[in-house]
Amino acid sequence: MSAPAPERTLVLVKPDGVARGLVGEVISRLEAKGLRLVAAELRTLTRDVAEEHYGEHRERPFFGSLVDFITGGPLLALVVEGPRAVEAFRALAGATDPVTAAPGTIRGDLGLEVQENIVHGSDSPESAAREIGLFFPGLG
Ligand code: PPS
Repeated sequence: MSAPAPERTLVLVKPDGVARGLVGEVISRLEAKGLRLVAAELRTLTRDVAEEHYGEHRERPFFGSLVDFITGGPLLALVVEGPRAVEAFRALAGATDPVTAAPGTIRGDLGLEVQENIVHGSDSPESAAREIGLFFPGLG
């Protein structure tokens, strides 16, 4: 049987991960898994981009705090590619809440806070296409 077509996903090393010096750790883990880097940029988000990125959470009580946090310092935006890349990276990242994320995952090994949870990964191929278009318009 032939291998599945490569898929792309957006990964963010969030400002807490950059500030803690965890960029190399995150990239090592995803490269060791077999995911391939397609694009990378260190940048500080504007509120407009952050609010669009997290638009589906606009009505949640933590929305303002999440936007403050994600715009509060530089993050590393990555596009990575591989078979079922969306699912593969979310498995590497672990559950949203690092306290309950499984040991062996990025959040399970390295975090304790649900907001400052080190990484973001697109939650579906449709979200990945939208998020990659927002962060890297040239890659569409
Ligand atoms: S997920 O990944 O969409 O299934 O998880 P979800 O619970 O919907 O969380 C979405 C993002 O919101 C952040 N989050 C929070 N921030 C602050 N306070 C609270 N209580 C909180 N709960 C969730 C969480 O870090 C997710 O960020 P991303 O960047 O999408 O991982």
